[in-house]
Amino acid sequence: MLDLLTKMNEAKAYIESKIDFKPEIGLVLGSGLGVMAEQIEAPIKIKYSEIPHFPVSTVEGHEGQFVIGKLQGKNVIAMQGRFHYYEGYTLQEITFPVRVLKAIGVEHLILTNAAGGTNEAFTGGTLMLITDQINIMGISPLIGKNEAELGPRFPDASHIYSPEFNEKILQEADKMNIDLKQGVYFYFTGPAYETPAEVKLAKMLGGDAVGMSTAPEALVATHMGMKVTGISCITNMAAGIQKTALNHKEVVEVANRVQSTFIKLVNRIVEI
Ligand code: 6GU
Repeated sequence: MLDLLTKMNEAKAYIESKIDFKPEIGLVLGSGLGVMAEQIEAPIKIKYSEIPHFPVSTVEGHEGQFVIGKLQGKNVIAMQGRFHYYEGYTLQEITFPVRVLKAIGVEHLILTNAAGGTNEAFTGGTLMLITDQINIMGISPLIGKNEAELGPRFPDASHIYSPEFNEKILQEADKMNIDLKQGVYFYFTGPAYETPAEVKLAKMLGGDAVGMSTAPEALVATHMGMKVTGISCITNMAAGIQKTALNHKEVVEVANRVQSTFIKLVNRIVEI
């Protein structure tokens, strides 16, 4: 079995063989935001399936490729499609792309997702800037041998989502007349949407939104000292708050409806 550093280096070498510049910003495009990759200029596309040691995405509507190029004058690398624990991978596997992004020079990671609202001030279509996260699933992407070269055994998680940069984002959103809310992202593995009792728990424990991604990637990025930004598109209210049944189709529809505002905001975040 190859160790993590060897795998990272092989994936890094493959990506670097396809580009002649260094991406500084990484974007993980969640449900409904994949089209944002189409705005990247002079795009170089690399399918995950070509890259050594990458898992293969199984979710419908997730493309499964890197799109690398310029956005707002910055060198960016976007993940069109991500990996989720519910697909059957380990958290170490789903966060491997983030490790590789850091290896190729990315210092700022922007994570986006679709999530369910538990904060009753939200509605379907709300955009939420993530201020912090909760993972009580009993699993962590940092379990296992720690590579000191990548980060500490016991990393500080006091400021996963840069408070200073979040402040700037809120100011920019305000200038753009985008009603950007703030909140805590509560991680569940899925794939079932939460029960009303689980949603009540998330809410009581301080969660504003529930979702099945982002938290492992954000933690791994923090482990390696990256700056992290997270934005959730609240596509629906979570079970028990929303009286109608939840379904993926609704999630995709609402995400698509908010898409243009979401893209505008992410563009500005890349720019500042
Ligand atoms: Cl209600 N829960 C989770 N875990 N993910 C979601 C969601 C709910 N709505 C959209 N994504």
